Amino acid sequence: MIKYFILAFALTAVLVVGIFGVRGQKFSRPPLELFPDMDRQDKLLSQAPDRFFANGMGSRRPVDGSLPHATADGVFPLEFSTGMDGYYYTGAIDDYFGNGLPLEDLGLDAGSMPAFLRRGAERYDVSCTPCHGSSGNGKGITSYYGLAAIANLHDPRFGRDQYPDGRMYHVIANGQGLMSGYGATLPVRDRWAIVAYVRAMQAAKAAADSAGEPEPSASN
Ligand code: HEC
Repeated sequence: MIKYFILAFALTAVLVVGIFGVRGQKFSRPPLELFPDMDRQDKLLSQAPDRFFANGMGSRRPVDGSLPHATADGVFPLEFSTGMDGYYYTGAIDDYFGNGLPLEDLGLDAGSMPAFLRRGAERYDVSCTPCHGSSGNGKGITSYYGLAAIANLHDPRFGRDQYPDGRMYHVIANGQGLMSGYGATLPVRDRWAIVAYVRAMQAAKAAADSAGEPEPSASN
């Protein structure tokens, strides 16, 4: 009995090696192609000629206004802060999140503050409104499509005395829990502008509340 088993085993082994074991040889003829496997497709190859473009080159210049992913020496641009230290870049002072805008680094004074806040409002609208809502109440459009537990930025937990500016900066840059970070698309200065704008929204809401105004309607 065991004899037949060994025989069958040996045959199977030979068969398996015979079928799958051919590796690494070079064939001069193109392989048999049952399915094209997307081997041939219309695509651009950099540094290769291409008949599609008038100048005959496959390499294209980046679109005007493209942001470099890294400078020529491989360093991520400064305004996205990777690897940088200090309050302006991290929101932290030693082991703690700091409070207050880094006015000097931002080059801000009373005269330039309104424009800075307007910038913050505009960037907030682009990057945060879809989830947190234009008023910051956490009821942005994505909340109607199943993204649950979006933070209500008017919750006292996120007020300035409990939640320092540096921490909000850090969350914008790196994300927190379910929220991913926006450091790759928001330069340092814009992150601070958003922090400033969120603070202004919080203050406006608190002032309206204490003046006894009715709640804003549920739609953001
Ligand atoms: C894709 C949806 C989405 C976007 C866009 C978004 N957030 Fe969030 N955010 C969330 C969710 C969800 C949470 C709750 C995260 C958790 O607790 O897991 C959250 C939490 C937060 C928190 C509280 C974090 C904590 O410590 O609990 C802050 C502050 C915040 N977001 C600010 C912002 C700001 C400012 C922007 C714009 C730059 C922004 N978010 C963009 C979804 C989003």
